[in-house]
Amino acid sequence: MAQQEYKMLGDKMFTYKGTVLTLENNHELTPEYIDSLEDFETKDDDVFVVTFPKSGTVWIMTLIYAEDFPDKYRAMEKNYNTRPSSVIYVMRNPKDVLVSYLHFSNNMKNLDSSESFDWMLENVFTGCMIGGCWFDHVKGWITDKDKYNILILTYEEMIKDLRSIVVKILVETATFKHMKKDPLANYESLPQNVTDRPKGLFLRKGTVGDWKKSLTVAQSECFDRIYQERLKDVPLNMIWDIS
Ligand code: A3P
Repeated sequence: MAQQEYKMLGDKMFTYKGTVLTLENNHELTPEYIDSLEDFETKDDDVFVVTFPKSGTVWIMTLIYAEDFPDKYRAMEKNYNTRPSSVIYVMRNPKDVLVSYLHFSNNMKNLDSSESFDWMLENVFTGCMIGGCWFDHVKGWITDKDKYNILILTYEEMIKDLRSIVVKILVETATFKHMKKDPLANYESLPQNVTDRPKGLFLRKGTVGDWKKSLTVAQSECFDRIYQERLKDVPLNMIWDIS
């Protein structure tokens, strides 16, 4: 029964199924609502952004939305029982997290506040803050790094070289492994009268040199002759092999 796992932490926060959350003014964040999220349906090409609070959630989301990847992305700070195909986990130096959190809680009516860093340290050590225990949060996601195909980023590397982080995210999104699961990239919405191929086969193999397994030597030599003939006036010095 949901209520049995629900426990108030002071007046403004509660813990439920190992996650610490804050009571919202309208009290919509109920155990029943959180339970209902367990049936939340994910798609193979979903990408989840996961952070401990105050680690750069808004920043990474701004970055992703700026890159115009609309509805595919969804911020998540709770532990859904799902297996999304890609997760971006952003971490930040926990000492900066605690300082940021202290200022944040002083601005929020629905959080206890204090000016004392000893008070904040105590909250971090006992996990009495939104997001729960920072140590468990990090441990859990790092341990599951390979299981959930997690791209780990840090706030610090984003500060140091934002450009290369954008590239890293784009590279991850554009890999064959990731795109193969994307219904859009696989033209799955094409009507049956346009294609009779089984769904999901447009992103076929994504390798270099697959022709060697398909063309005969004679076919390949014939192609080379025509190629030379047709392109003889074009200064084209391409290297088609990568071995
Ligand atoms: P500070 O309070 O240390 O300034 P979250 O979005 O997870 O709540 O994280 C908030 C922290 O990320 C805040 O840290 C905020 O200033 C910082 N942040 C947000 N956008 C940023 C940006 N573009 N560059 C650097 N830090 C940013």
